[in-house]
Amino acid sequence: MIPRIAAGFARHLTSYDTAATAQAQIADRLAARIAPRIAPAARILELGHGTGFLTRQLARLAPDEIWLNDLVAPLPEMSWPAATKVQALPGDAAALRFPAGLDLIASASMLQWLADPAALLHRAAQALRPGGILAVSSFGPGNFPELAGLGLPPGAPAYRDAAGLCADLPAGMQVLDAWDESLPRAFPDARALMAHLRATGVNGLRAGHLTVPRLRALMRQMNRAGPTTLTYRPSYCIARRC
Ligand SMILES: C[S@@+](CC[C@H](N)C(=O)[O-])C[C@H]1O[C@@H](n2cnc3c(N)ncnc32)[C@H](O)[C@@H]1O
Repeated sequence: MIPRIAAGFARHLTSYDTAATAQAQIADRLAARIAPRIAPAARILELGHGTGFLTRQLARLAPDEIWLNDLVAPLPEMSWPAATKVQALPGDAAALRFPAGLDLIASASMLQWLADPAALLHRAAQALRPGGILAVSSFGPGNFPELAGLGLPPGAPAYRDAAGLCADLPAGMQVLDAWDESLPRAFPDARALMAHLRATGVNGLRAGHLTVPRLRALMRQMNRAGPTTLTYRPSYCIARRC
């Protein structure tokens, strides 16, 4: 599982920045609600930084220290405040040695790729100082309803809606904010929709489920149905360690 996920993202890192407009929007929305809760000179860990949509926003908090984790992505190319110490923590977040006493652990659009996201949330909570903030986004079970409506596999894994995300937090975490969204994306045709999925690192549609002729038949069906949309259903949870 991990090598397949790693290969999917590694192959499409260059196209991700342009294609992943929904993920960019999600990172912005999460960052907007993190910012008022974090004082300058914080100690921050980001899980699954990818090409840096959320990382760039975290840099604006002028952290003292930031640890950046991703399974495959190199550190994002960006500038940092001179006083910020940046440290890479590459590899599987599930196997990570967390720094202790953190002010903020943040992660956008990554949890759903893990085999056991709840276990990671528990470990993350333990790495926070009392009063520290955990801020995450994922995708709810209603993600990509258009694909499910055609009987297609979802293509990308989903995890929990906002209520479910919060329910997976360990005891001792106080939920400060939780919300779900619906972000539709329109495409000229089914081919463009599939190319979008691939460009964002999602290549699971055909993973053992669909033959090429069957996929082509489904794409023709999508084109006959008219304008092609893909609806992202992101979920968010922000909580404080008591
Ligand atoms: C959809 S991208 C999101 C990237 C970024 N956070 C954003 O908002 O655009 C998911 C990222 O999670 C990373 N990822 C997937 N599984 C992971 C794991 N087990 N440990 C660490 N990172 C992982 C991928 O390499 C990829 O960069």
